[in-house]
Amino acid sequence: MAKIGIFFGTDTGRTRLVAKQIAKKLGEAADAPVNIGRTSLEAFLAYDSLIVGSPTLGDGELPGESTGLSQPSWEEFLPQLVEADLNGKTIAIFGLGDQKKYAGEFVDAIGLLHDAFAARGARVVGRWPTAGYEFEASKAVDGDDFLGLAIDQHHQALLTESRIDAWLDQIRPELLP
Ligand SMILES: Cc1cc2nc3c(=O)[nH]c(=O)nc-3n(C[C@H](O)[C@H](O)[C@H](O)COP(=O)(O)O)c2cc1C
Repeated sequence: MAKIGIFFGTDTGRTRLVAKQIAKKLGEAADAPVNIGRTSLEAFLAYDSLIVGSPTLGDGELPGESTGLSQPSWEEFLPQLVEADLNGKTIAIFGLGDQKKYAGEFVDAIGLLHDAFAARGARVVGRWPTAGYEFEASKAVDGDDFLGLAIDQHHQALLTESRIDAWLDQIRPELLP
């Protein structure tokens, strides 16, 4: 059976830890998480089912050189997708952020990733209700949902595991048809 590919960006490592937690819960169904700054477009496109994760950094931005990373990340990877056709691919997105300190741009990266993948033809799954979070604005919101799983390790770390479990139950059938 084809496996799920997991790709993440990170600055201080929290998103990597969540990616590893997700991979562990998926067991044999997923390959080990890969840092998006240390892979190739070809390796990414080898999967038809993907879970991608990112913190929001800077001023509601994706991680990369602009947000002070010394290594490439989503900011450098996404432009390569201009050449790619993501039709037939199913992608679920999770994002880390801080809903108090960055209430006006909470988990914006989920929205940025969503738009980039959807524009290339991918089917993006794994919406998550905004109920239970307190923030003012986010590029990741559509109606009453985030466009992926929002995780706040600063203020709601105790909710993370149950959120991941519920989200995986929701997306498993979509990613493993
Ligand atoms: C300089 C800086 C800017 C940030 N900007 C945002 C933001 O715009 N929106 C948000 O939700 N979180 C923001 N955060 C919070 C991070 O997304 C959060 O700390 C996340 O857990 C970091 O994940 P990482 O350890 O994988 O890098 C920012 C954090 C830093 C240090």
